[in-house]
Amino acid sequence: MRKNIVAGNWKMNMDFEQGVSLFSEIVNMVKDEVRGEQEVVVCSPFIHLPALAKLSAPVANVAIGAQNIHQAESGAYTGEISASQVKSTGASYVILGHSERRAYFGETDALLAEKVNVALKHDLKPIFCIGETKEERESGAFFDVIKTQLSNGLFHLSAEQFKSVVLAYEPVWAIGTGLTASPEQAQEVHAFIRQTLAAQYGQELADNTSILYGGSANPGNAESLFSQPDIDGGLIGGASLKSRDFLEIIRVFN
Ligand code: G3P
Repeated sequence: MRKNIVAGNWKMNMDFEQGVSLFSEIVNMVKDEVRGEQEVVVCSPFIHLPALAKLSAPVANVAIGAQNIHQAESGAYTGEISASQVKSTGASYVILGHSERRAYFGETDALLAEKVNVALKHDLKPIFCIGETKEERESGAFFDVIKTQLSNGLFHLSAEQFKSVVLAYEPVWAIGTGLTASPEQAQEVHAFIRQTLAAQYGQELADNTSILYGGSANPGNAESLFSQPDIDGGLIGGASLKSRDFLEIIRVFN
């Protein structure tokens, strides 16, 4: 049975106090309202992680994650953070392959495959992002793009390793633009992703993999998106920075 996950990606926002305050609101709401298999994940900047881990410890359905890790175990990489350092904060997830990392920091599929390996080695669950650009959508190349991102970034993993992976389909043209993919567009790609997983790892593993949607998801469209058969939750950017909006999105599954 795959898990419904609502994950917030705070990106580079909020100072320490602001993050702790927002996260406290989220934890209190989840404690009171979230039941069953749903999980709420907050992927904050590194500075918040130890404090958020303490706040989330008593609540089963809440987890925290980082938004990146370096691919090396440790060493002379000024300014970088390793998988073991992230794990030591109490985090259990890490976003990898976000389009902003691919675009702004030149992260390639090969580099991301290395980051996936070191994340799994240190018991961090990758939230692995895939998605096409506006040009790739308009040219009709998006299925090929997504299949290549999956194959080059993840398909070196064994079936057992892949069980720890959460996928996030984030059409680049929908991120931060207010141009959300329609439920039909998103479902079409999510179904394709699941078929691609089934071809690689078998139908059972494909059926048990959580595939999240990201890209201008908000309280107004979350219900129609999450009601699609192959959409198992969301990776939420802007709306996760506003407690009312993020809590409304979490409530869609309750
Ligand atoms: O990782 C989630 C993010 O890229 C989506 O951003 O602001 O469009 O919800 P946003």
